[in-house]
Amino acid sequence: MTPPTPVRRKILMTCALPYANGSIHLGHMLEHIEADIFSRFQKMNGHECIFLCADDTHGTPIMIASQKAGKTPEEFIQKYHEEHVKDFKTFNIQFDHYGSTHSAENKALCELFYTRMKKAGHVHKKSIDQLYCSHDKMFLPDRFVKGICPKCSTADQYGDSCDSCGATYSPSDLKKPACSLCGTAPVMKASDHIFFKLNAFKDYLKEWLPAHTAPEIAKKMSEWFSEDLRDWDISRDAPYFGIQIPGEDNKYFYVWVDAPMGYISTADQYFKKQGRTIDEYWGSNSNAEIYHFIGKDIVYFHTLFWPALLKSADFRSPTRIFVHGHVMVNGEKMSKSKGTFISASVYAKHLEPEFLRYYYATKLNANVDDLDLNFPDFTNRINSDLVGKIVNLASRGAQMLNKKFNSQTAICDDDGLKLLKTLQASSDEISNYYNNREFGKATTRIRELAELTNKYFDEKAPWKLVEQNPEETQKILTTTINAFRILAIYLTPIMPKMSAAVSTLLNETPYVWTDAQKIVSHQKINDYVHLAQRVDPVNVQAMIDEQKAIYEKTAPPVANKKTLSTGPTEIDFEDFAKIDLRIGHIVEAEEIKEADKLLRLKVDIGNGITKQIIAGIKSAYPAEKVLGRKVLVCVNLKPRKMKFGISEGMVLAAGEGGSDLFILSADEGAAVGSKVK
Ligand code: MSP
Ligand code: ZN
Repeated sequence: MTPPTPVRRKILMTCALPYANGSIHLGHMLEHIEADIFSRFQKMNGHECIFLCADDTHGTPIMIASQKAGKTPEEFIQKYHEEHVKDFKTFNIQFDHYGSTHSAENKALCELFYTRMKKAGHVHKKSIDQLYCSHDKMFLPDRFVKGICPKCSTADQYGDSCDSCGATYSPSDLKKPACSLCGTAPVMKASDHIFFKLNAFKDYLKEWLPAHTAPEIAKKMSEWFSEDLRDWDISRDAPYFGIQIPGEDNKYFYVWVDAPMGYISTADQYFKKQGRTIDEYWGSNSNAEIYHFIGKDIVYFHTLFWPALLKSADFRSPTRIFVHGHVMVNGEKMSKSKGTFISASVYAKHLEPEFLRYYYATKLNANVDDLDLNFPDFTNRINSDLVGKIVNLASRGAQMLNKKFNSQTAICDDDGLKLLKTLQASSDEISNYYNNREFGKATTRIRELAELTNKYFDEKAPWKLVEQNPEETQKILTTTINAFRILAIYLTPIMPKMSAAVSTLLNETPYVWTDAQKIVSHQKINDYVHLAQRVDPVNVQAMIDEQKAIYEKTAPPVANKKTLSTGPTEIDFEDFAKIDLRIGHIVEAEEIKEADKLLRLKVDIGNGITKQIIAGIKSAYPAEKVLGRKVLVCVNLKPRKMKFGISEGMVLAAGEGGSDLFILSADEGAAVGSKVK
């Protein structure tokens, strides 16, 4: 009986599109490593697997970040595009194409979707009131408004939620709201927005979700269906870096509309390059498999908005949304100040990228749990499992073949053949693990097989046998190198670089999955080269230190007496430019009786804003001596909660302190609120 011809699957898969205003870090890398392992596994099994990603380039944060960097948005996103592509390459993430949402194809696609949605009656226009900064001449997204939390009164909270009490609210609920760019109090302004009628798809989504996501995701999302789904605002007013909405003046698609479109437009670019058409995959009768790999924070966009948008425009939906949890470092959220917000490039300076691939693989499974990148555990798994148990087999087998047998393999001994059969028989099991994204189980099985091989090697003790029975010894070494070869093939999706080195060592072509069923005998091998070096914890620490130093260099400088007395530390111009100094007018001054040094001031900083500032100047200035004066004020200092109230800025003064202190004041002619240049 001839076995059935294996079906050649057609798979298209994507990772979430990273924002083009930040570096790739080890959190992103989890997703890309997970997807890359899956994709390489499919490819080495002869399936067509097209692995795509792109940068997510639009929206207010990117527009503002480019302004701050003194670049056009186009220049700005281009720089990140290059950086992202480079970082992914370093980690051997093998995309078939890496695009951008800022492309002609993406624009055309958004327009097509919009036309179809409009025709189907799935959008409508309505005027809404939003906070507007009259200084920056723009509507402010929630994250660009700061103020006092309406629930717990903590100062300096974003317009969508409070970091301190966790309350969520709309930016207009904030007390003393201010534009986070310029400090101006925003005003309410009306503008027409375009809404997508999400609720029209409620019944569709209710059925769609359980069939296209993991049960735990479907269950969580089903909570939304107990009420009507709210209309989704898909438009933004100019200025906005994005794609213009056809038929509208100065309106743009909200970035979360054009971003998922990037999945299709990037595929479109890929197929065009190949002289093919995207209909093969995204056409409505295509039976190709389409997978989106995403993190748990963006499930909402991918399982409600995205399938509804697709449905509305008559496009097929993805086969499955694969959701992973978040990377924690040493049991805690990644943190910039602790140096655990590690960028891909800093990692690669100190540690082997393929080790991260292996480590993540050992921890990946098909559920949504967070994953801990624990460095002591990382070091241990690499050193004792990967290097000590797996790679060690290669040096044990190959080095003696090189030295004593003129690099020549023979045939295997009987016990050896039995061992290899066991290893080969695990092919389907490991295959299933890869197919089901149970990479942790795959690595466990591979490690167990390595343990069996080490046991065989230790029992046979070829190093003792070599003088009295060279023939048998050569067979044992041949078995050992074959066993290692099979494990390297099984590890290929996870460790492509090592796999390539092994096929080179054995004079073979790059491995495909079925190569594990072959046995190498009577062949010449090449000289063994080290396949992996153990991790030295010193390098882990050096990596964390470097990352911490990068953070400290870019974080706002902390004024510090010590650094001044030992000579000033230099700061970048960008840091200096962050300090917003203005002429303030002290309109109230009151001595805080309970404190020796403190005055409570009300300072008018222009534009109708007054700030409360608690200033440590009482020893030099009784209240009546400062009242009415025009002084220099730093107006964008984060408000600080002090014992006697919140201080929302700083009045500049010079001197040693105590009575030796001089307020820096402005000439009478200087207008209150004007910027100090
Ligand atoms: N631009 C959007 C996605 C648009 S998709 C049409 C976005 N970008 S992101 O850069 O913030 O995140 C990209 C992916 O990285 C997301 O899937 C996100 O979940 C993932 N991760 C970001 N930080 C992460 C961790 N700390 N851990 C694991 N994955 C994380 O969201
Ligand atoms: Zn502003």
